[in-house]
Amino acid sequence: MISTWCAHRLRPASAREWKHGGVSTATDSSTIEQQLIRRREAVAAAWDLDDAIVLISAGELISRPGRADATYRFEAHTEYYYLTDRNRPHGVLAFDPAAGWVDFVAPVTADDRLWSGAPAAGPEGPTTDDLEAWLRQRRARAIAGLGAPPPATLAADVTLDRQLSEELRFDLDVVRRPKDPVELERMRTAERATGAAFAVAAGLIEAGVSERQLQVEFEAEALRRGADAIAFETIVGSGPNSAVLHFAPTDRRLGTGELVLIDAGGEYLGYASDITRTYPVDGRLDPEQRELHAVVHAAQRAAIDRCAPGAEWRDVHRVAAATIAEGLAAHGLLRGDPETLVESGATWLFSPHGIGHLVGLGVRDAAGPLRQRRHDPKPFPNLRMDLPLEPGMVVTVEPGVYFVAAILGDPERRHRFRDQVDWQQVDRLLGFGGIRIEDNVLITADGHEVITADVPVLR
Ligand code: GLY
Ligand code: MN
Ligand code: MN
Repeated sequence: MISTWCAHRLRPASAREWKHGGVSTATDSSTIEQQLIRRREAVAAAWDLDDAIVLISAGELISRPGRADATYRFEAHTEYYYLTDRNRPHGVLAFDPAAGWVDFVAPVTADDRLWSGAPAAGPEGPTTDDLEAWLRQRRARAIAGLGAPPPATLAADVTLDRQLSEELRFDLDVVRRPKDPVELERMRTAERATGAAFAVAAGLIEAGVSERQLQVEFEAEALRRGADAIAFETIVGSGPNSAVLHFAPTDRRLGTGELVLIDAGGEYLGYASDITRTYPVDGRLDPEQRELHAVVHAAQRAAIDRCAPGAEWRDVHRVAAATIAEGLAAHGLLRGDPETLVESGATWLFSPHGIGHLVGLGVRDAAGPLRQRRHDPKPFPNLRMDLPLEPGMVVTVEPGVYFVAAILGDPERRHRFRDQVDWQQVDRLLGFGGIRIEDNVLITADGHEVITADVPVLR
């Protein structure tokens, strides 16, 4: 339901023409317009509102504390971006079931023209200056707020219905989860850049190279090869640092015999890739590294094999955890049958995160539980979502095995798991680090496609 007034505003801002203008959609502008219409229609149908109105806000520039007018890089709230394809602050997309969508864009200011190169002509159609009047005409109606908090200038006019907002967010998440062709094309662009960057970084790995050097070369290559941003803070951890799940690279130099874990991704027009590989610094895994790397790889293959429409994400996690338990028992670190080791939490000591997450519009896309499960306890600690997979979803599948001193040095855990863990072996391996392998998996009508399969698991 798109009113004529707003239809012309469907055209996304054709920038990085100027700094806070939006994002370039030069390559897909006709299909993005079609998708914006489809997305808005799908969301309106899912909401099925009678009388309530909805405000979806882009968000504001965020100041860097104490640094005068310096701000963080602006990213519009994903809910606003999904429905406008505009990466510009202050905007509000409004919906009234009786009148359709209205896209209120911030007026261009003299400062925008001076500092950011904004065009002389302001945006066509309604601006955020018109929003107050639009709201005044709808007084006494319930208001749901999605995206970022509404602009502070509206505070007096807007009291959000929190419960309604939460319900509508569940509906919007359901619409957002399956990626449409425009989203998938952007993800594949991000993936190609990321794959190229992995090839460069992997080729540079040798003793004496620093984590930071790998980060710099990875990011430069991703940006050269089509990424327009880095999707999240690049993780490069060598030796013991590879056991830190989100390690920030340092000037530590890679040592002979160590592992180095790279978890990184480029982004394109808001869409992310998220890949992890763990490489031996010397080009060859030693026998124990080989065994544990094979355990993680087997867990990943078992989990990916499960990825198909209707598969429960908790079962994808469970099969990976059971494969890890089996592998660690074969190694001698764990004792017992895999299912008991998973249920007791013994496997978690070495694999303390969920199997993955939705990836797409940002590195963490619209995850969460099914609406009817929202008050249930999580089936596994740190599991980011609890729902069945559907065609069009893209998930990361990223099992890992780590030797984390903060977990494994805990006396209470050592006591609780005294029969299930060989603690002498653990002590020997405390400096080993960790191994993670992560790919991005598109759920198809009859199974899955690993969209990151062009990045070799080892070099
Ligand atoms: N890139 C962090 C993660 O894999 O979730
Ligand atoms: Mn990752
Ligand atoms: Mn990930």
